[in-house]
Amino acid sequence: MRVGRGNGSRGERTIAALDIGSSKVAALIAVSDGEGPPRVIGTGQRACTGLRQGLVADLERTESAIRAAMEQAERNAGVTVENVVVSVSAGGLDSEIVSVEVDIGGQRIERGDIDHVLSEGRAQLDAGGRTILHAQPALYTLDETTRVMNPLGLHANRLGVDIHIITADTPPVRNLDQCVRTADLGVQTIVASPIAAGLACLAPEERELGVALVEIGAGVTNVAVHVRGMLVGLSVIPMGSEDITADIASTFSTRRIHAERLKTLYGSATTSPRDNHDMIEILPISEDDDVEPTRVPRAQIVAVIRDRLDMLFSDVGERLNEMGFKGPRGRQMVLTGGGAELKCIADFAQGLLGRHCRVGRPRGLVGLPEAQVGSAFSTLAGLALYGAEDREDLWAGSVRDGGQMRMSRSPWGRMIEVLRSNL
Ligand SMILES: Nc1ncnc2c1ncn2[C@@H]1O[C@H](COP(=O)(O)OP(=O)(O)OP(=O)(O)O)[C@@H](O)[C@H]1O
Ligand SMILES: [Mg+2]
Repeated sequence: MRVGRGNGSRGERTIAALDIGSSKVAALIAVSDGEGPPRVIGTGQRACTGLRQGLVADLERTESAIRAAMEQAERNAGVTVENVVVSVSAGGLDSEIVSVEVDIGGQRIERGDIDHVLSEGRAQLDAGGRTILHAQPALYTLDETTRVMNPLGLHANRLGVDIHIITADTPPVRNLDQCVRTADLGVQTIVASPIAAGLACLAPEERELGVALVEIGAGVTNVAVHVRGMLVGLSVIPMGSEDITADIASTFSTRRIHAERLKTLYGSATTSPRDNHDMIEILPISEDDDVEPTRVPRAQIVAVIRDRLDMLFSDVGERLNEMGFKGPRGRQMVLTGGGAELKCIADFAQGLLGRHCRVGRPRGLVGLPEAQVGSAFSTLAGLALYGAEDREDLWAGSVRDGGQMRMSRSPWGRMIEVLRSNL
């Protein structure tokens, strides 16, 4: 059966998701009846060496990993997909608020007024050569003073709206798009990875109250602040769990593949007294028969890991402070991405940043196979959830019409304050 968006049997729609990462491409096919949680019917995965720090660096390798991962998912599901929901996790992801206002002359606000201000907002979206991935209405303003989630039925002279837009550099998005299309798949939509990961591993109440989601991938770490159910700030750190692997490989002169094993099998983010006694075998980088393996105490491996985590989480802390995520309402943090599988990483982050921290794994789908329940698959699961939801996104289509408007861009700190003050 060949399926695309909106197709499928018995009123179900089929959603295909593709997470293209620096270490792997993961594919998932799910069906949704629009009521219950989407049901996974097939998954696929292929190691990928075509990306560097989240950016496509080799078209052919990326395309062949995409093709292999999706073909595997299609075989499992017994369907052929046409269009996929794709993630982007680097490429200069950025977010801002665009504010637009229209005159409504003191009248009672009707649905048409809301549509009007939204269409003005859409007409005003200008990313200055960047690609707009998402444009979602956040808060409405009445006469520049009162901020409300839903202005319907209220009176005002001027109705405004703050539109939350997420943008990316255009060339990296085009490269991703090209890889997917070369693999004979259509791109249904490209979703910022922190939006997808947030859908999959944050509880609705966390997203309401305020939470920082830190997705540690192989090559990049995305830091995203969610407040009042929306992603209100994000920052991309070009560092990931692969840097830990490279540090181990270079410190102990061993191959990356072995360093990866050392990290996942013996690595930890916290120390224990036993670490000085556990001796770990290190295979030599050289393949010469006369070079013998050496043995080092586990404590040395843990020390290398902790040095890198210090760098990473110090950076995370700075980005969070810059985004205004501090004080009593800036205390919750969720770690996800494959890098969050490192033992005791939440304890480390909690100790360094003084925020409550847990590891987030994908939820909200039924039938996710055992191999995809880890934190490395949060974005993949979130893409399927995104594809299954009908969400208000001005970029996905709205009408243009005329009108008087003023537009300004607002800093994140203000947005977070405003959202909090509305809680
Ligand atoms: N148990 C584990 N302990 C430590 N690290 C782990 C563990 N499992 C996976 N990782 C690390 O997670 C990383 C892969 O994470 P993920 O799959 O989220 O990245 P990606 O999506 O391929 O890359 P990116 O999003 O950065 O482009 C690898 O560096 C891997 O070593
Ligand atoms: Mg990733």
